Amino acid sequence: MKPILNQSLFISILLLTQLGNMQKLMAQEKAGFKKNNITAIDSNYFSKDRLKGRVIIITGGARGIGRATAIRASREGASVVIADWLPQGEATAQTIRKEGGKALFVKTDIRSTADCNNLVTQAVLKFGKIDLALLNAGVMDGTFSGDAFDYDKQKELLPTAVDAASDKYWDNVIDINVTGTFKSMRSVLQQLLKQGNGGAIVTVGSIAGLTGLAGNPAYVASKHAVNGLTRSAAIDYAPYGIRVNSVNMAATETPMTDKAFEFVKEVKKRGITGMGGAKTESLLMMNDTKHRMATVWEQAAVILFLLSDEASNLTGALYPTDGGWTAY
Ligand SMILES: NC(=O)c1ccc[n+]([C@@H]2O[C@H](COP(=O)([O-])OP(=O)(O)OC[C@H]3O[C@@H](n4cnc5c(N)ncnc54)[C@H](O)[C@@H]3O)[C@@H](O)[C@H]2O)c1
Repeated sequence: MKPILNQSLFISILLLTQLGNMQKLMAQEKAGFKKNNITAIDSNYFSKDRLKGRVIIITGGARGIGRATAIRASREGASVVIADWLPQGEATAQTIRKEGGKALFVKTDIRSTADCNNLVTQAVLKFGKIDLALLNAGVMDGTFSGDAFDYDKQKELLPTAVDAASDKYWDNVIDINVTGTFKSMRSVLQQLLKQGNGGAIVTVGSIAGLTGLAGNPAYVASKHAVNGLTRSAAIDYAPYGIRVNSVNMAATETPMTDKAFEFVKEVKKRGITGMGGAKTESLLMMNDTKHRMATVWEQAAVILFLLSDEASNLTGALYPTDGGWTAY
């Protein structure tokens, strides 16, 4: 027994010494390692024919994440139906048509059942069916998406912690993000069921749908609700071959974040504690030398993957497309 014990002791000491040497070596190397920023996927990149023959509805397609996804979906072969309460949705449709794609804009307020039903009716009239939907329309506060930021005029509709929050701020955010997502999902699902060929839906949550965030309770509550709705629908429609997932991003460069940064600057100036008071950067944003936000094209890449046949085994999941925000 004794020699075996001595032998294993010797091997252990040898391994520990080697480990110690390796750690020293790694520490020395680390000091000299070249740091790298991660380059965002090119805005012109797409997977040819991945969505060939598909018809996709995109709510909130006038700008931001919805617009980029609409453009890339068309490049991948889909006919695109853009829904938005802003008339600029027509400009997205025109951009797609100029590139040789097929697109229709239907002015839609997702809070309205009639508008959501009309959206689907128009899509089917124009393209004969629907296959996919990105339910992306949403707001960060109670103001109209088309209005420029003006703290004094909009104060009552802007984010603040619960004790100071107005009914109007709460109601507007919940009406759009929760009820609007439900109503647009319902119209889409009714059509997909009628067609009987399955389909795929992606909803848009946020890091605010996965964790708490400072100073914007209605937004956080609304995005948690979107994620609940997503999981619930995934269960109810799996038997019909309809997959439902959500994407949950951190700061992504869009008109919504432009407004959020203006807002955060303004409340800081006024000495009000509010949004942006706690964690403010994703892992990738904090490690990037320019503190780069995610781009709309990075979001479109994941969204369209989830809507494509490549994601045939994925449903009921909440994907953090958040540059590592929820990892720490
Ligand atoms: N940009 C970000 O950093 C970020 C982070 C997390 C989640 N999100 C979510 O991503 C989605 C897209 O946001 P974005 O950043 O592109 O913002 P955005 O404001 O640029 O785009 C949102 C679009 O939704 C439309 N919309 C809002 N309410 C509507 C309604 N009632 N009916 C029809 N259309 C309506 C707006 O007009 C706008 O075109 C939103 O759901 C948002 O909450 C964005």
